[in-house]
Amino acid sequence: MPVTYDQGKKLFKLDTPNSTYIIGVLDKEQFVTHLYYGKYIPDMDLSYLFTPIINSLPSKKEGQRVAFMDAIPLEYPTYGIGDFRDHCLEVESSKGHHACSLSYESHRIYQGKPKIPALPATFAGEKECTTLELSCRDHILNLNIVLRYSVYEDLDVITKSVIVVNQAATPIYLKRILSGCLEFFGWDYDIVTLHGSWARECQFYRVPVTANKVITDSNRGESSAQSSPMMAILSKDANEDHGEVYGMNLVYSGNFYGCVEGHHNLGTRAVMGIHPGSFSWKLNAGEAFYAPELVCVYSAEGLGQMTRTFHDLYRKHLIRSPYKEKERPILVNNWEATYFDFDEKKLLELAGEARECGIEMLVLDDGWFGERTRDDRGLGDWTVNEEKLKGGLGKLSSDINALGMKFGLWIEPEMVNPNSRLFRAHPDWAIQIPGRACTLSRTQLVLDWSRKEVRDGVYDQIKKVLDHANVEYIKWDMNRHLTELGSFGLAADQQQELSHRYVLGVYEIMQRLITDFPNLLYENCSSGGGRFDPGVLYYSPQIWTSDDSDAIERIRIQAGTSLCYPLSTMGAHVSAVPNHQTGRITPMETRGIIALFGTFGYELDITKLSEEEKAIIKDQTARYHKYHHIVRDGDLYRISDVFHPGDDACWSVVSKDKKEALLAYVQIQSRPGSQVFKKKIRWKGLDPDALYEIAEHIYDQEHARIPYAEDENDREEKLVLSGAVLMNAGIWMKHSFADYTAQLIYIRKYDG
Ligand code: DGJ
Repeated sequence: MPVTYDQGKKLFKLDTPNSTYIIGVLDKEQFVTHLYYGKYIPDMDLSYLFTPIINSLPSKKEGQRVAFMDAIPLEYPTYGIGDFRDHCLEVESSKGHHACSLSYESHRIYQGKPKIPALPATFAGEKECTTLELSCRDHILNLNIVLRYSVYEDLDVITKSVIVVNQAATPIYLKRILSGCLEFFGWDYDIVTLHGSWARECQFYRVPVTANKVITDSNRGESSAQSSPMMAILSKDANEDHGEVYGMNLVYSGNFYGCVEGHHNLGTRAVMGIHPGSFSWKLNAGEAFYAPELVCVYSAEGLGQMTRTFHDLYRKHLIRSPYKEKERPILVNNWEATYFDFDEKKLLELAGEARECGIEMLVLDDGWFGERTRDDRGLGDWTVNEEKLKGGLGKLSSDINALGMKFGLWIEPEMVNPNSRLFRAHPDWAIQIPGRACTLSRTQLVLDWSRKEVRDGVYDQIKKVLDHANVEYIKWDMNRHLTELGSFGLAADQQQELSHRYVLGVYEIMQRLITDFPNLLYENCSSGGGRFDPGVLYYSPQIWTSDDSDAIERIRIQAGTSLCYPLSTMGAHVSAVPNHQTGRITPMETRGIIALFGTFGYELDITKLSEEEKAIIKDQTARYHKYHHIVRDGDLYRISDVFHPGDDACWSVVSKDKKEALLAYVQIQSRPGSQVFKKKIRWKGLDPDALYEIAEHIYDQEHARIPYAEDENDREEKLVLSGAVLMNAGIWMKHSFADYTAQLIYIRKYDG
């Protein structure tokens, strides 16, 4: 049984295939304490884990209650009763007091996993998951607090969520309600978080736990490019393949808060949930509040295994799209090709050339609607601009279909330009504080999606567009953060609910979109990866990873993003050179190899390419069809430190049955004298006993030869090697006498 309860000892044991989590309830006051999380341990009498806690029980040392509350490991720490460490729950009573205490009352263990109303969450069938609900109470406030743990049978995953029900006769205010806490014994841990900015998302940071707090958070109204809603706590010795790692990822797309604290009693506490800074929630008598889900992953085999577990979980238990296990059409997006300067003739030319190269869908980006000739107008007016697109989208989509291409469309439904018909008709629909100037960003404001009439007003327009054109793909963008938080729809004592209600509104419309158009391929975007989180993945199977399409920058960005999110979720396109974000010039092959490890596409004007470049695109699109199933469904192994690439970067994806594998190697900098020692790569994740043939090795042939040498640099070899040899003795990369060159190796099991 994955969840067991020892009634005599008041111990709950939660087991996944390789991990165990133990919760203990203390006698008398029924505090819910945390006793263990780590490698799987067999069933036996574990009550000794309580001993130091019982020894400091306040019943024994009544005068020491505060010291006790501040010293014990708790499952769901609350504010105001002596635990001064970072906490999960803070409640304001109707009298204005802030204190809450949590005592166990009862529990339920059942098969399966319930949904969280109005919020995204991982899902599982009856046989795939067991759920434990600990029902607790604050007796003074008459508050019921349910701690929910769902334990996956086939993955080392435990998810946590929380429900608070006000069973008193008067309202209370939730000032902080985080989704969960992990307690660690000692300080001997490091913390991994992901930070960045626009066009530099998901950069990897590792710092030690010390006598302080390390906070990762967003108060921007979305999960943000600046910080990602994930943290990992690692044993000091943990690296890519060894050591203990505890991953935490919040299934939420709004303001979040994660804190790891090395506290005064020499333990470590990690908490995560909705950011309390811009949050307060009025809970009327009889009402319930549901906190978003926190995913906890345990790995005893380093960050690599943590990544593979997250990928499996999200592919199998979070993403719902009909495209989840299908090849996605290769797209060309016109943004970097034309920006706002296009008409139907230009788009049809682009689509026609793209078709010739094996591309399957044209995505029409920003600029097709209202008076949108520049980025300071038109947002909110979702009717086609017939000056640019004569005949409208119905005609354009059928003309594109006639070329043998699918048609996709960009929208940014949450936004409005002051210069728009929508804003002129409904100025109160924008988020704002009356009397205070609205801060513009990209000359736009955010619509108040906490209000139903605002959501409906926008969605009805968009639905009409989709009803009248053959749109098979939507790119949903979101290009600014929330400021001047004020809503005309909320009373003064509920204004602080706006950020969370806004996120609930976004989820509602995303759900309506996929319900009304179930066959749509839906990609999310927020100025690139500004809202790359598991909440969004519940609705759309892919997200545009970054507006930085430079291949070399993408190595780090895609590596950081793939720490938790599957490669199949990461939009990755080949773009023009010099690159529009960095000015860097990289070979077309390199751009193609790096983009292959995501959802593949193009973002350039194919009509301006040479015949030679178009021929490379034809090879690349064919290669995508040949290999994409490995990228989409396989296991990712980071071979070099791709988070901080130096001279080179290397990673591989191995199919689940270990019959096939792909390896990418990028030489960022050519260094002399590195042929023998630097170019040997030890593969990972293969079947050691199987024989593999090197079936394809793509490399830059032009630079593979020493320019001034007489001899051939390369001896062509048809190699068949065992997995053990490839993983231990390794394999040599071709030498390349140029920067930014890339190689791709495909191996498959050899049957003789
Ligand atoms: C930001 C997106 O990330 C880009 O890909 C593009 O769609 C622009 N917005 C269009 O305004």
